[in-house]
Amino acid sequence: MDKYEQRAVLGGSFLMLVFFVAVVIATTGFGVTVPTCIVDVKPFKHGQLLKLADKHYELHAVAKMWSFDPPEVTIPPGSRLDIFLTSPDVAHGFNIEKTNINLMAIPGQVTYASVTFDQNEWGNFRLFCHEYCGMNHHAMQGWIKVWPAAALGATNQLAPVAAQQPTPAPAPASAEKPADTTTQQPNGGAQQ
Ligand code: CUA
Repeated sequence: MDKYEQRAVLGGSFLMLVFFVAVVIATTGFGVTVPTCIVDVKPFKHGQLLKLADKHYELHAVAKMWSFDPPEVTIPPGSRLDIFLTSPDVAHGFNIEKTNINLMAIPGQVTYASVTFDQNEWGNFRLFCHEYCGMNHHAMQGWIKVWPAAALGATNQLAPVAAQQPTPAPAPASAEKPADTTTQQPNGGAQQ
């Protein structure tokens, strides 16, 4: 083998080794996780939050035109949240602000990712769609509320942030604001 050819082969091999080690370090040392397409879970129609153990929850999320089901969930700080995501219609995005969660909801498939919230960080984390999915794409959002039980009991009313949002919240909160109910539909999906 020509000596320059030999050097090129050795150099190339060395670089590949460096990149491989970098990937291993990134995944183990920095907690980078890549969303996984789950093949043994059938796409589901309804969202729900399951409590698996203390500070361990499983979220079955459905992204659809143009809302998330469930629209919001509340978990305590320090919780691990395993997310299973699907879509009944078109491709949507699923991005939880201030976390590494950045998923695609693909019709007919289930995507999985997991996030663990910091013990000392709590508040309302916005969840939004970042894949253009039609007319009301911009209004497609939800909330992951990370609140200690004590704070929940004290206020008994979450949503100081959500209340300021112009989004059609299909859920409660409207009880104390009977003012403008003209745009509120029971199904929450009829907004123009
Ligand atoms: Cu759903 Cu954009």
